[in-house]
Amino acid sequence: MTNRERIDRLEIEKQLPKEDWVQLLSTFTTEDREYAAEKARKISTGIFGKTIYFRGIIEFTNICKNDCYYCGIRRSNDAVSRYRLTLEDILECCQEGYENGYRTFVLQGGEDGWFTDERMEEIVRAIKERYPDCVVTLSIGERSRESYQRLYDAGARRYLLRHETASPVHYAKLHPAVQTLANRMRCLNDLREIGYQVGCGCMVGSPYQTAEDLAEDMLFMGKFRPHMIGIGPFIPHSQTPFRDFEAGSVETTLMMLSLCRIMIPEVLLPATTALGTVRGDGRQEGVLAGCNVIMPNLSPLSVRKKYMLYDNKVGTADSAADGMARLAAQMEAIGYQVVSGRGDSPRMQG
Ligand code: 5AD
Repeated sequence: MTNRERIDRLEIEKQLPKEDWVQLLSTFTTEDREYAAEKARKISTGIFGKTIYFRGIIEFTNICKNDCYYCGIRRSNDAVSRYRLTLEDILECCQEGYENGYRTFVLQGGEDGWFTDERMEEIVRAIKERYPDCVVTLSIGERSRESYQRLYDAGARRYLLRHETASPVHYAKLHPAVQTLANRMRCLNDLREIGYQVGCGCMVGSPYQTAEDLAEDMLFMGKFRPHMIGIGPFIPHSQTPFRDFEAGSVETTLMMLSLCRIMIPEVLLPATTALGTVRGDGRQEGVLAGCNVIMPNLSPLSVRKKYMLYDNKVGTADSAADGMARLAAQMEAIGYQVVSGRGDSPRMQG
């Protein structure tokens, strides 16, 4: 079978046998990638039109108990100046975002024990009370099912938790032994059962990753069928054990994004900050490869440089209004329009 035939088959069957994933992901050419991108773009515009949803990320704590080998805010990185935002700080970010048209706030942070269920409930309730027309998305890592349920009951409706890699052997090369893929999967299943719109995803080109691992990612995502998928290239951070590894390939990232769009047509698919970091036009390329979401930073400018998951992260100097204006211009340059609104998964409407 040729790679084009594999892509056609994926469009019809919404999944491929593992061997075809491995072949496709290890042998695709520029033409194959463009073929997938065009198909993905058509699917995306067929469902969402030429519109891009935007979500504001509020990085409210860079304190983390985990020690992921790739991540700049890992526990062992003593060079990071650590911070926590107060509820007032967070609400100020929301206010600035609200005034600029944001209707989804993504609270992202390290796994910081200070943010107990009580404190997180208070934050979620306060945002929902002030902005009842907005969605609160959480991206705060692995917690108990009970905790996820309490935060859902407090009003959170979406949860982002990348699976990072669907291969247990590869997972163990990226994380200390106390962090397991099994618990990650337990969390993703709990979140979905509770009723969240759930996002998973992986890095492309992380150290020791093989085409087989990427194939496992596609098999897993095709089976799990998340509402959202976050995929970006691995980018080395100079204060981590992975400092000397190379960044992941933009082309493979774009190919993975297109294949996700073809496999799960209605998925909410952001063109990630990491993609925009490895290449100036990365987020535009992402949209042209089938992405339909952009997640600008709403964190206070004073903390942006302290939330460095990888080196040279873009968007650390833009105010909410400037960041929005710049992204809107970038999208308009390729014929797309950013739209305000909640931007729920098509699966959750009606
Ligand atoms: N390069 C790219 N992505 C990274 N992330 C963490 N560290 C890096 C890095 N060095 C991603 C992880 C995590 C998300 C919040 O950021 O996939 O889930």
